[in-house]
Amino acid sequence: MVDSPPRDRLPRHVGIIMDGNGRWARARGLPREDGHERGADSVRTVVRAARKVGVEALTLFAFSSQNWDRPHEEVFHLMELLRRYLVQEREEILGNGIRLVTVGDSERLPPYVRAPLVELMSASAENRDMVLCLALSYGGREMLTKAVREMCRASVAGRLEPNDITVETVESYLDSARILPPLDLLIRTSGEHRISNFFLWETAYAELHFTEKMWPEFDRDDLMIALQDFASRERRFGQTSEQVSRPAATGEGDPGLD
Ligand code: IPE
Ligand code: IPE
Ligand code: MG
Repeated sequence: MVDSPPRDRLPRHVGIIMDGNGRWARARGLPREDGHERGADSVRTVVRAARKVGVEALTLFAFSSQNWDRPHEEVFHLMELLRRYLVQEREEILGNGIRLVTVGDSERLPPYVRAPLVELMSASAENRDMVLCLALSYGGREMLTKAVREMCRASVAGRLEPNDITVETVESYLDSARILPPLDLLIRTSGEHRISNFFLWETAYAELHFTEKMWPEFDRDDLMIALQDFASRERRFGQTSEQVSRPAATGEGDPGLD
């Protein structure tokens, strides 16, 4: 069993691009749908493990804006699986102090998914032990486009002065920044090395961890390996190693430029 890193080296917010369900199934001569079913088991395992070690927020990329273009039968099966997950995991989520939230265009979800989703979000709203965020009908470009649209609207209405727009202003228009801590660690399974339109803005300084494992075979130990990998990284945010490894005394690090 792989140990979890010390609590003070844990990421606050972990995002996972859960990829490889179809290939996992095909490699076993099974329909892609079976891969999604097994993928739901991995979700259960990983949510439990993340909650247990003390991760503050976990975002699971479950369905992208582009995944709507998959064959109708597969989309239907994924929606049905999502509905079942929300119903079956209700007790576990509520019993473990988990707050369920979502990012993405949830208006596009069918009513039989939206209803249990909205109900569980509301029932879990006061929970404080971990935030579980499902990225559903989510696209990073779509979210940024929506933010730009809303900023333009505010500007035209005289509520937002273009010269006053800062990084923080843009962030305040992103749902993720309103409900989640900054993304620290991004995990992608299945050996692909791409973001696939996930958190584009949020990955700016996230640490990236890629694994060859397909999502249905990703387990607790794989999560611990990713957390250990994160704990071993030095995050510099543009500064030098000396700056970030040595706590600056008062005045230190100020080159007197001002
Ligand atoms: C991830 O597995 C699940 C979703 C994107 C909904 P895939 O279905 O993408 O599996 P592969 O990548 O085709 O193997
Ligand atoms: C990313 O996986 C989306 C989710 C995991 C929900 P995809 O399988 O859709 O991404 P691509 O097509 O490999 O880029
Ligand atoms: Mg895929």
